[in-house]
Amino acid sequence: MTSLPSTLSTRLQSITGIDPELRPATKPQFGHFQSNVALRLAKQEGKPPREVAQRIVDELDVSDICEPPELAGPGFINFRLKPETLAAAVTEQLNDERIGIEPAAESQTVVIDYSAPNVAKQMHVGHLRSTIIGDSLNRVLSALGHTVIPQNHIGDWGTQFGQLVEQILEEGVDPMSLDLVSAEELYKRASAHFKEDPAFADKARKRVVLLQSGDEQTLDIWRKLIEISKVAFNEVYARLGVKLTDDDLAGESSYNDDLAKVVAELEASGAAVIDQGALCVFVEGFNAPMIVRKTDGGFGYSTTDLAAIRRRVNQLHADRIIYVVGAEQSFHFDQVFAVARKAGFLPDDVSAEHVRYGMVLGEGGKRLRTREGGSMKLVDLLDAAEEKAAPAVAMAAIKYADLSSGLNKDYVFDIDRMVATTGNTGPYLQYAHARTHQVLRKAEADQIPVPDKITVLDEPAEQTLALLLPRLAEIVNEVAETLQPHRLCGYLHDVAVAYSTFYEQCPVLKSEGDVRGSRLALCVATQRVLATGLDLLGIQAPDRM
Ligand code: ARG
Repeated sequence: MTSLPSTLSTRLQSITGIDPELRPATKPQFGHFQSNVALRLAKQEGKPPREVAQRIVDELDVSDICEPPELAGPGFINFRLKPETLAAAVTEQLNDERIGIEPAAESQTVVIDYSAPNVAKQMHVGHLRSTIIGDSLNRVLSALGHTVIPQNHIGDWGTQFGQLVEQILEEGVDPMSLDLVSAEELYKRASAHFKEDPAFADKARKRVVLLQSGDEQTLDIWRKLIEISKVAFNEVYARLGVKLTDDDLAGESSYNDDLAKVVAELEASGAAVIDQGALCVFVEGFNAPMIVRKTDGGFGYSTTDLAAIRRRVNQLHADRIIYVVGAEQSFHFDQVFAVARKAGFLPDDVSAEHVRYGMVLGEGGKRLRTREGGSMKLVDLLDAAEEKAAPAVAMAAIKYADLSSGLNKDYVFDIDRMVATTGNTGPYLQYAHARTHQVLRKAEADQIPVPDKITVLDEPAEQTLALLLPRLAEIVNEVAETLQPHRLCGYLHDVAVAYSTFYEQCPVLKSEGDVRGSRLALCVATQRVLATGLDLLGIQAPDRM
């Protein structure tokens, strides 16, 4: 379905030859859309703008969809769609199973790297953002017919496991008796021990070597640590209602066997060179090289990410690779992408994008802390929200607050604001959605039929709503392209506000005949747009609240 604004836009452009930059009108008296194309064209031609605007309007034929266009101010052209055009657009959307969202012309394989917590540590708020944003991008891209492959790049490898395993052996604890909280306590004891006791540090280092060389006892303890961590991660995922499963796990350790190969290829191609004993890749534009093999022969986080790119390109056949990771890792990803391009791991026709998000802050913009003063864990945040509201509402509050602020910005975790049912919040959208159901339930109880056609749109409040609803598909496409879910949040909030105004100004069940039928159909369309949109954000839309 071609949207009305794009039809209008195409026709305008065929006359003006330049992008008409059609915008939604800022005030109802300006109609529905406005273009400043005449002003720009007049400048080029050195003619009075109103004269140019008049010429365009005379030439333009939009009488099938619009009222006669009007000139305004210095040379703006205002368009008002005919009510029947608007009605037809919403009716078409309403009767489309996919509510207007069409599969992308070209279906891509999209790898999304998100969540990625670290084993033997509780998830923190950064992981919360990654998980929520990644889940929403997964839903949006899947809805457009792309094949999405989530990759949960958990931190399950590295020198810290030497310390952990050694500490476990020394304390004689059964790793299966640990939960994630006690494992993290153990982790802290192990790091302190490592710093204080050279003999322990030495054993811990040897333990890493044992782990890497496949020593059974060491591997067994390491596996158990992963097991108990996974249980806790999955609890959080279930609570959040995100789609991640164990099938999506591709932890750092899974690349272990590829690392030496990656490095050998880098050396063979001449991309990597020895610098002060370490093997490095220098790429232009970075003030430090990437170290792909440390002086002690070990590989690190960056080398693992290079191996991950190779697998994603060669085995998963990704067309697009998306990383949802905090902005503090920007340098890392910029450099990984640059090195991977240089090394030929990342071909030109595969895109790599780092969706970088800001921090979640506590009151007054300070670090987020618990009431007791400890650093806030993700489960503490979920608990705090569930103290204020039922789980579905609490999760909506948290997710919407996270998704609706621009990704790059830090935001303050203000639970009272987030759970409020007024303002730009998740619960407000859930209420608007539940209200559409309420009207439809009453209609059903009173045996009033609900037609599948919008026929009358005389009231401005009806028109505003009807203008917004068919834009869903365009907004979803925008999110897929820009990877900015806040655009969908803003749109759904506009829809919810327009619905409230409509609901206040246009009686539904108390009106009669065609007007009532048309308004009921508009309620159904609104219900479906809100439910679909919320689902794409990973937010539940209950029928009643
Ligand atoms: N585990 C890392 C952390 O907690 C995030 C990993 C992100 N993904 C990646 N491919 N590097 O910071």
